[in-house]
Amino acid sequence: MSSLKNDRYLRALLKQPVDKTPVWVMRQAGRYLPEYREVRQKAGNFMTLCSTPELACEVTLQPLRRYDLDAAIIFSDILTVPDAMGLGLHFVAGEGPKFSKTIQNAQDIANLSVPDMEDSLGYVMDAIRLTRKEIDGKVPLIGFSGSPWTLACYMVEGGSSKDFAKVKGMMFDAPEQMHALLNVLADSVIAYLNAQIKAGAQAIMLFDTWGGALSPENYKTFSLAYMEKIVNGLIKESEGREVPVTMFTKGGGQWLEWMAETGVNGLGLDWTTDIHSARQRVGDRVTLQGNMDPCVLYASPDRVEQEVSTILEAYGNGTGHVFNLGHGIHPSVNPENMARLVDSVHRLSEKYHR
Ligand code: CP3
Repeated sequence: MSSLKNDRYLRALLKQPVDKTPVWVMRQAGRYLPEYREVRQKAGNFMTLCSTPELACEVTLQPLRRYDLDAAIIFSDILTVPDAMGLGLHFVAGEGPKFSKTIQNAQDIANLSVPDMEDSLGYVMDAIRLTRKEIDGKVPLIGFSGSPWTLACYMVEGGSSKDFAKVKGMMFDAPEQMHALLNVLADSVIAYLNAQIKAGAQAIMLFDTWGGALSPENYKTFSLAYMEKIVNGLIKESEGREVPVTMFTKGGGQWLEWMAETGVNGLGLDWTTDIHSARQRVGDRVTLQGNMDPCVLYASPDRVEQEVSTILEAYGNGTGHVFNLGHGIHPSVNPENMARLVDSVHRLSEKYHR
């Protein structure tokens, strides 16, 4: 395997000096890119795109051809894990993800088991192996998973939800049942991420999209505790390098100190947290990823650059910052604005690393 030509992203996560602030963008492979929409249409549906390694590899690499990004993220979805656990994932146009089976009671949970990684999720490992080969050491490849709590939200609700009525109902009425579900999910995620690392993932990202919907005590008990279990269960080193882990709880800005205590290398920030004060709170322990409001990309390129400048200045001097949006890029933004974002992060950040 060829050596890594650009390791800025890994270095920043390990708080080693960098020449420029590294940048990648959540959902960087996606519908805002015409070349993605073309492959997506040819594939017919989203799951075929995810489960065909050549297609997943192709769309993973698309944003790297356009932009000078410092990392790639394997093209897949967090919901492949519940799908492999037998829930039957499909996407309904305009409605997002849907499961044909949902988790409603103790028996449904008892029927779940940790899926065989090279069997039911082997297509993700094949996509990682192929992408590592094709990427040829240009930038590191990030593997990822949803947090147990976030996966449980989709599995119990059967899809996206506004109020989390069913999953929170289960949490409050039958906490032991919820813990049993979260335990089998945590074990599945550990096996899944370790298989990704063995297949060639060089860093790991945990998406806790719905942790921020919980009260502080329930966040600790039902989301953070299981992410901590995962962090402790992951392979620490691969190919002679540490495999850094980033934890992103959307809406979790008030809990950064708790999150930093889990031993992760990086914390993802959404745009509701000020990155300057976040650095003062936890910056001695972890790297911060983020945190531009994705909607800035609806403004003019000059406005995008101005916002990049503000965030770089707010973080300040030295390593420990990975530039990103505070959540995934929206499907209707102009790809030109993404070019300006990446370019201005690199150009404007040099002075903070002298
Ligand atoms: O970041 C990347 O480029 C890697 C690919 C990636 C996707 N989903 C591709 C995708 C990643 C890391 C995810 C994670 C994911 N998926 C999360 C966590 C991050 C977050 O956004 O909070 C969640 C909650 C999901 C579940 C999911 N998948 C939803 C709710 C949807 C529908 C969204 C919509 O706008 O319709 C998806 C589908 C999905 N996953 C798309 C992409 C590019 C769009 C589907 C399509 O192309 O038809």
